[in-house]
Amino acid sequence: MQVDVPFSPEQASSFAGEVDALYGFLWALTIVVGLVLTLLIFYFAVKYRRREEDEIPRPVRASHRLEAVWVGVPFVVAMGIFFWAAGLYFKMYRPPEEAIDVYVVAKQWMWKFQHLDGHREINELHVPVGRKVKLTMTTEDVIHSFFVPAFRVKMDVVPGKYSTIWFEPTKAGRYHLFCAEYCGTSHSGMIGWVEVLEAPEYQAWLSGGPAGGSLAATGEKLFQQLACNTCHKSDGTGRGPSLEGVFGKPVQLANGQRVIADEGYVRESITNPKAKVVAGYDPIMPTFQGQVSEEQLLQLIAYVRSLASIQGAAPQSGASSPGRQQSPAPAPAQMKQQQQ
Ligand code: CUA
Repeated sequence: MQVDVPFSPEQASSFAGEVDALYGFLWALTIVVGLVLTLLIFYFAVKYRRREEDEIPRPVRASHRLEAVWVGVPFVVAMGIFFWAAGLYFKMYRPPEEAIDVYVVAKQWMWKFQHLDGHREINELHVPVGRKVKLTMTTEDVIHSFFVPAFRVKMDVVPGKYSTIWFEPTKAGRYHLFCAEYCGTSHSGMIGWVEVLEAPEYQAWLSGGPAGGSLAATGEKLFQQLACNTCHKSDGTGRGPSLEGVFGKPVQLANGQRVIADEGYVRESITNPKAKVVAGYDPIMPTFQGQVSEEQLLQLIAYVRSLASIQGAAPQSGASSPGRQQSPAPAPAQMKQQQQ
C-alpha cells in the first residue's frame, strides 16, 4: 500500500506560488547554511587539532575584511528576506476594492458564511474561480482562525472586531477549511470546505435562490424592527445622522477626528454608540450590545453599506432642525460599490 504524503498542499490561489517560493527559499537557505557550517566544524576540528601534549596555539590575527564579509552577507540576505516577506504580507492583508464580499461568523464549532445576495452557508463556502474574494470575519465566542492551506491564507478571527482576508482561487475544486486556533473541545471538528466553482456553475449556484432576500434587505427589516429609522432619517432631520452615502467615506466626529465609515466603525457605532459620535449630534443613542447577534450586526452593516450609493442626505435647507447640519458632505464619486 502506497501512502501519498505531499510535501505541501495543492496550490489553488494566486498567493500559493509566491508563498511557496518564499518558503522554499527559506528552506533551501537553512539547508545550505546548516550544511556548510557542519562541514566547516568538522574540517576545522581536524585541521586545527592539537598535535602534541604541550602545544601552544598560535595567536590569531584578526581580518577586518573577513569580518566585514560575515557581517555584510547575512545582513543583506536577512534584509532581502524581510522585504520579500513584507511585500507579500502587505499584498495579502490589503483586500482589493473590487473583491466579492463574504461575511463570516465563527462560533464553537462552526463557520457561518453570509453572502451579500442573501445566501447563507455553514462549513461550506462557494466562490467562483478567478475572482477575488474578501472575507470580513468575526466570532460569537472565542478566538478562531480561518485557514485554507491550498490558498495559503490564514487569519485570526477575534471577538468584538472584524478581521479581513482575501484570496483569488485559481483552480476549481474542493479545498479544506480549518480552524487553526485551539478553541475548545471540538476545535478539531471545526472544519469545512471551500468550493471553487467555474463561472457558469457559480452562476447556477447563485440562482439557486436565497429564501429571504439579500443581506441588505434583511438588514433593512431589522433596522426598522429595532426602530433605528426613527432617529436615522434619510432626509437628515432625525436625532441621528442620515446613513445615506456614508459607508466607505470619511466621517467628521464630535471630537474633531475623522474616521472612515467601514464595517468596523458601523459595528462599533451600534454596540458602543458613544465611542465615536458624529459631529453635530448628541450622544443619545442607546447601545445595542447584546441585543443583536454578530450575524444581525453584519445584516445591519450590509444595509448601511447598500445606502452608500445613495447621494447623501438632501442638504437641509435651513428649515428643519438647526444645529444638525454638520453631517459630513460625502464625495458623490467613487462609491464603494462591490456588488458583482
Ligand atoms: Cu475554532 Cu479552533
